[in-house]
Amino acid sequence: QREFIIAIDGPSGAGKSTLSRLLARSLRYTNIDTGAMYRAVALAARRAGIDPADEVALEELCGRLRIEFLRGDGAERVLLNGEDVSEAIRTPEVSLLTSRVSACSAVRQAMVRLQRGMGEQGGVVLEGRDIGTVVFPGAEVKFFLLATAAERGRRRYQELIAKGLEVDLGQTIAEVEARDAADSARTHAPLLQAADAVAIDSTSMGIEAVLELMLQEVRRRR
Ligand code: C5P
Repeated sequence: QREFIIAIDGPSGAGKSTLSRLLARSLRYTNIDTGAMYRAVALAARRAGIDPADEVALEELCGRLRIEFLRGDGAERVLLNGEDVSEAIRTPEVSLLTSRVSACSAVRQAMVRLQRGMGEQGGVVLEGRDIGTVVFPGAEVKFFLLATAAERGRRRYQELIAKGLEVDLGQTIAEVEARDAADSARTHAPLLQAADAVAIDSTSMGIEAVLELMLQEVRRRR
């Protein structure tokens, strides 16, 4: 029996990363955080002094980047040309830059090709914005995770505070909203719910309850 491809899409802060990791662990699947890949491109662009509007430079940059995931016992690590950039790609500054860089179609083409290569054999949970619509429209199970902007901003704020970053709640909510607006309005692969995706609003649900819902859905289709 073929292992599933599971897509989890939704706006930032809806709980995709946490749930994708938990779901993958429960099913013994591989978790693929596609946002981390776009973040790595943004970090590389910043280091190279590339203007996020310069599509030619971004395309050329993607051609010489190596993005890999290192999976061990603990949290997975993101490698950019062999360097562990797992922390460096999570700053608010890189988050905002990522939304701009990920609007470039050459960047999306390069990442989608990589993601298809990583996931096509099945047994994967991919988490992002366009997994169920563009990367794997034939995915066996698709989820669209939602929560209100205020709740998502509050979660992102707590995440950043826990990491020791100094951030402001109001500003974090504003940044989440700005990123959503940019991700939803872009021409190439905007954030969209696939017609056959199961929508889950996690605003007032605990992680365990959402995970249970997802597992039920996966079992139902097997
Ligand atoms: O999920 P995360 O917040 O790490 O994603 C960072 C950014 O990467 C998003 O705001 C979005 O602009 C971009 N992204 C994307 N397509 C994906 C995953 C992330 O455009 N599949």
